[in-house]
Amino acid sequence: MIRKLFRNGHIFTPIEIGTPLAGQRQGHVAHLPRGAICVSGGLIEAIGDEQEVLGNLGPRQVDEEVDCLGHCIIPGFIDCHTHMCFARRREEEFVQRLEGADYLDILRRGGGILSSVRAVRAASDQELLAMTRKHALSALASGTTTLEIKSGYGLDTDSELRMLRVIEQLRHEVAQDVVATFLGAHAVPGEFAGNPDGYVDLVIHEMIPAVAREGLARFCDVFCEQGVFDTGQSRRILEAARRSGLGLKIHADEVHDLGGAALAADLGVTSAEHLLRSSEMNILAMAQAGVTGVLLPVTAYSMRKDYAPARRMVELGLPLAIATDCNPGTGYTESMPFVFGLSVLNMRLSVWEALVAATLNAAYAVGLADRVGSLEPGKNADFLLLDGDSPAILAYHAGVSPVVRVYKQGEMVHPK
Ligand code: NIG
Ligand code: FE
Repeated sequence: MIRKLFRNGHIFTPIEIGTPLAGQRQGHVAHLPRGAICVSGGLIEAIGDEQEVLGNLGPRQVDEEVDCLGHCIIPGFIDCHTHMCFARRREEEFVQRLEGADYLDILRRGGGILSSVRAVRAASDQELLAMTRKHALSALASGTTTLEIKSGYGLDTDSELRMLRVIEQLRHEVAQDVVATFLGAHAVPGEFAGNPDGYVDLVIHEMIPAVAREGLARFCDVFCEQGVFDTGQSRRILEAARRSGLGLKIHADEVHDLGGAALAADLGVTSAEHLLRSSEMNILAMAQAGVTGVLLPVTAYSMRKDYAPARRMVELGLPLAIATDCNPGTGYTESMPFVFGLSVLNMRLSVWEALVAATLNAAYAVGLADRVGSLEPGKNADFLLLDGDSPAILAYHAGVSPVVRVYKQGEMVHPK
């Protein structure tokens, strides 16, 4: 087994306590001004003050030393919410929105998500894979070492399974850990216009069992929104998913406060996402139910909407994660540094709260906190070297990624 020693690191990392970090703890980050990380077989064998790590090395030699002088080290980003498997961008729709068109109106007229569905159904597997790979590689270059990707642009059983198989294939090609989420309930497809319950039945009786049988997804998600799936339909779908052994996520209160957050609390889902319009009462209910809130500030930015009330959420004890939401409609970016900047400057998280949100809490949101999300012995050696004195550089150097090197299980995966 190869043993590597990373020296002279200015290390910042959250510390695992067995649950996502909330409230006061949302910003708890350990700082090692002159730290070292010893990596063996892709895992962190030891991390701490350099002298201490060197003193405890033991008889076995180090095969390679990497000097990290001048850089700070943070855990790799966990982008825990993306829709980056799509076949065609929607620039024309973006321009329409700039000119005043409404996102949900575009969807009602058969555009938006439904135009992405037509593109996915028309694309070959190779085309879909190529587009998704391009997004995943861009994410890697900006420091994303673990990536969640949702289906949801197929909306019939074959096309949804095809998307999940493309995501599965990508997992074998890219450096990141890839977590797949089944989002068959992303919109009601044209074939079921006027009969949403018929489509919900198809999701429950055909799609979820097939996804579970083939082991193609770890989570099931639902777009709970006015004119899409109401709370009753969302509940039926998520309960069926739970019976099939899938983890649960929900797109809640993105455009309207429909009670998605209340449903999230009631079901005790792993994560509730967006939460732009959630009431305080429902935020508190989620905090008490152990739900992680996933905030997606690029969506508010790109839709010119108010940001989620992140400060209030921290006060109410809801653990927060942040992610890109990378999708062709409401927010097109693979950049976690950009998300980090918006989180700090526009959602007013502290640098430390944002760091926890982009790493350890996001690892919880994808069910991988036992392996990734913080730099601790036994976890994967997934970390980033930043051109800066602290993680503040991620918000401070606006619009420019300070990520100079990306390590996945101790291997440099960017730049290649
Ligand atoms: O998270 N809200 C639903 N899904 C995506 C947008 C998908 C799309 O417009 O293609 C979101 O905002
Ligand atoms: Fe989303």
